Amino acid sequence: MSYPFEPFKIKTVEPIPVTTREERERYLQEAGFNVFNLPSRAVTIDLLTDSGTGAMSDAQWAALMRGDEAYAGARSYERLAQVQRDLFGFPYFTPTHQGRAAERVLFEILLEPGDVVATNQPFDTTHANIVARGAEVLELVIEEAYDPTSHHPFKGNVDLARLEEALQGIPKPKLVLITITNNTGGGQPVSLENLRAVRALCDKYGVPLFLDAARHAENAYFIKEREAPHMSIRDIVRETFALADGMLMSAKKDGLVNIGGLLCVRDKALYDRIAQNMVRTEGFPTYGGLAGRDMEALAQGLLEAVDEAYLRYRVGQVRYLAQRLLDAGVPIIEPPGGHAVYLDVLRFLPDWPREHLPGQAIAVGLYREGGIRAVELGTVAFAKKDPETGAWIYPRMELVRLAIPRRVYTQAHLDYVADVIIDLYRHPERLRPLRIVEEPPFLRHFLARFAEM
Ligand SMILES: Cc1ncc(COP(=O)(O)O)c(C=O)c1O
Repeated sequence: MSYPFEPFKIKTVEPIPVTTREERERYLQEAGFNVFNLPSRAVTIDLLTDSGTGAMSDAQWAALMRGDEAYAGARSYERLAQVQRDLFGFPYFTPTHQGRAAERVLFEILLEPGDVVATNQPFDTTHANIVARGAEVLELVIEEAYDPTSHHPFKGNVDLARLEEALQGIPKPKLVLITITNNTGGGQPVSLENLRAVRALCDKYGVPLFLDAARHAENAYFIKEREAPHMSIRDIVRETFALADGMLMSAKKDGLVNIGGLLCVRDKALYDRIAQNMVRTEGFPTYGGLAGRDMEALAQGLLEAVDEAYLRYRVGQVRYLAQRLLDAGVPIIEPPGGHAVYLDVLRFLPDWPREHLPGQAIAVGLYREGGIRAVELGTVAFAKKDPETGAWIYPRMELVRLAIPRRVYTQAHLDYVADVIIDLYRHPERLRPLRIVEEPPFLRHFLARFAEM
């Protein structure tokens, strides 16, 4: 498979650390075998996340200089507001410092204990912010999402029959929240057809529809490829958001910035409550916790993210890494999503007991072998202990995510990553079982410490 050339050239470079195996061994010990505890100076290729790790363009760096740091009504806010209106079309919005701030503010207003939020699948901070309100999450993604070998083109879609059943249930969901693309399920897209049907159900049952739109541009690219080739990316984006009553966005992904978020709504009364909450907790709603220069970079980044040549390269780069792994027989979630390649651990290490934390062992192995940082999204991230029996309840999928930062790594970097993974796949005896020795009460994978057995 050919590698799509980068639709940019490189104007500035950042050296990456090259370490020895002995150094990496020491770093792993110090980090308690949790890659979140590794200093970035010890990481050669950092695929921990695509969030806030992208490279800005020269136009974005230039825009920083235009930042108007007025507390209220800054020109930079007006510029961001203009781009928001042109691209997404919401009458009311506030910037936020990142996605989870938008989640917290919105859920503080909309959710009460006992409420239910219907989703395809929520991101883990979204889940945690819903649960923090005493509310409950329903995951209604289609069954194909749980089959890593299914080639369904829109594996982020909502199961409409289950959604309707939920909307007829008691309590009726307070909110329907659809994540585009579905990060938790492998960066898989949601189709326009599915979103239209979800909208119709929300209308029928009188429930608001919100989008978690962190990767809305990548979702639009898949729609163009697989559903609506006659539409432009911008028209797809416009139509996607026209279906929603509001959206939350971590702008650290398809905003092409290192920090920032958005919270957009149609309803004036809801916006007024958001604005009051923002003043108390995040900042006046014309800056929302961002510097004026951040808003300038974001306004420019949102425009660059919907450029089709950029998206072809972006999605193509992820596909290239996926194809190299597939060609060598390495099991991954197929088809690859928009921002990451996910190793399918249950087929990568079919004989490993899950209590030996095979996903975490692979994440540790990738670092030990090649200085590559990836993240486990399996037992460590999601398994719970049954409160009565103490037995583990495992998530349906055991994954290791290799998230590709935007506009950062080249083909040679991805070839190196593929070589290390393929080598490890062929030599699983190099992997060592792990056990948890320290864990926080929630969002365990960020802060736990492990020991090798
Ligand atoms: C789908 C989705 N929603 C929300 C968030 C949270 O955003 P942030 O990290 O900006 O707080 C993320 C972050 O990865 C995400 O992927």
